[in-house]
Amino acid sequence: MLKVGLVGVGGISGAHIPAWEAMEDAELTALCDIRSERMEPYPGKRHYLDFEEMLEKEELDILDICLPTYLHADCAVKAMERGIHVICEKPVSLNEEDVERLYSAARRRHVNFMVAQVLRFWPEYMLIKELYDTQKYGKLLSGYMSRLGNTPPWSWDNWMKDESRSGLVPFDLHIHDLDFIVYTFGAPENVKSNRIKRPEQDCINAVYEFPQFFIETEASWYAGAYPFAARYRFQFEKAVVSFENGKCMIYEDNGDITDLTEAAQGDTGSINLPKSDAYANEIQYFADCVRNGKFPDKVKAEELSTVLGILKKL
Ligand SMILES: NC(=O)c1ccc[n+]([C@@H]2O[C@H](COP(=O)([O-])OP(=O)(O)OC[C@H]3O[C@@H](n4cnc5c(N)ncnc54)[C@H](O)[C@@H]3O)[C@@H](O)[C@H]2O)c1
Repeated sequence: MLKVGLVGVGGISGAHIPAWEAMEDAELTALCDIRSERMEPYPGKRHYLDFEEMLEKEELDILDICLPTYLHADCAVKAMERGIHVICEKPVSLNEEDVERLYSAARRRHVNFMVAQVLRFWPEYMLIKELYDTQKYGKLLSGYMSRLGNTPPWSWDNWMKDESRSGLVPFDLHIHDLDFIVYTFGAPENVKSNRIKRPEQDCINAVYEFPQFFIETEASWYAGAYPFAARYRFQFEKAVVSFENGKCMIYEDNGDITDLTEAAQGDTGSINLPKSDAYANEIQYFADCVRNGKFPDKVKAEELSTVLGILKKL
């Protein structure tokens, strides 16, 4: 049975905790947050207000880091130095140099380290990687990805609105799409971008150019209560594949239309998207790697460095 501790019981922990709870051969034994009330809904666990005390008193196999971004790297290194495997929320850090610091700690202590870049485990996004790799609908010609919403009002101490702690839209929001682009297509040859940055608004438009295609992207925190939505549209030679308003569709050049949305599944021919929770998928993948003594290679250090290097210039 893997013993797991989680630090940072804020917004995203609500997606991680149920994933650990659902796993049969792992037990989430300890939680840590500087706000005790955040841990109250989980009375069956040991609660810590201090991270170092949790590391000292618990015998953990895995630490799951859901802390504000600026705390990720130091906490991850401290845990790995004690021989604990670490899964850490994105972004790994605001500084590229931390990537090597983290991976060298993992190598030195022979532990697993993975940044939870969730789109790599998201069925609708995995579909695009598969279609690109297999060329099922021919070559990719262009793509569009967006992630639009309002400036997050919920974060502890408003850390998300503080550029030095969150990196704002590039590092907090756009990183999802850029990480997917680098994972799927490699490093872009050229980047063109525009940005409007004001105290309560941050809006980016970036085009990533590759030798044979380009991906246009948008990411924003608007000042008003603009509803969050993530979208994509990829144009292949023989089909357009879109993910909009929760609907994943394939429009083939022969007129065929396939709705891959969960509700519409049943008769989609050769393509079926699994009904699954991407956060649970990434956590399951990491736990399986720990159990099997395999280093998680789905998220690679070079890719993380490439992404951070691009983000800091946006
Ligand atoms: N993968 C995703 O889709 C996704 C979505 C949201 C957030 N995130 C990432 O998850 C991380 C956390 O974001 P969030 O929205 O949950 O933030 P949050 O502010 O809601 O939660 C952070 C929690 O950490 C606690 N905390 C702060 N300092 C601490 C310390 N020193 N020791 C212990 N606890 C401490 C706070 O009390 C708070 O409960 C960020 O890096 C963010 O980018 C990822």
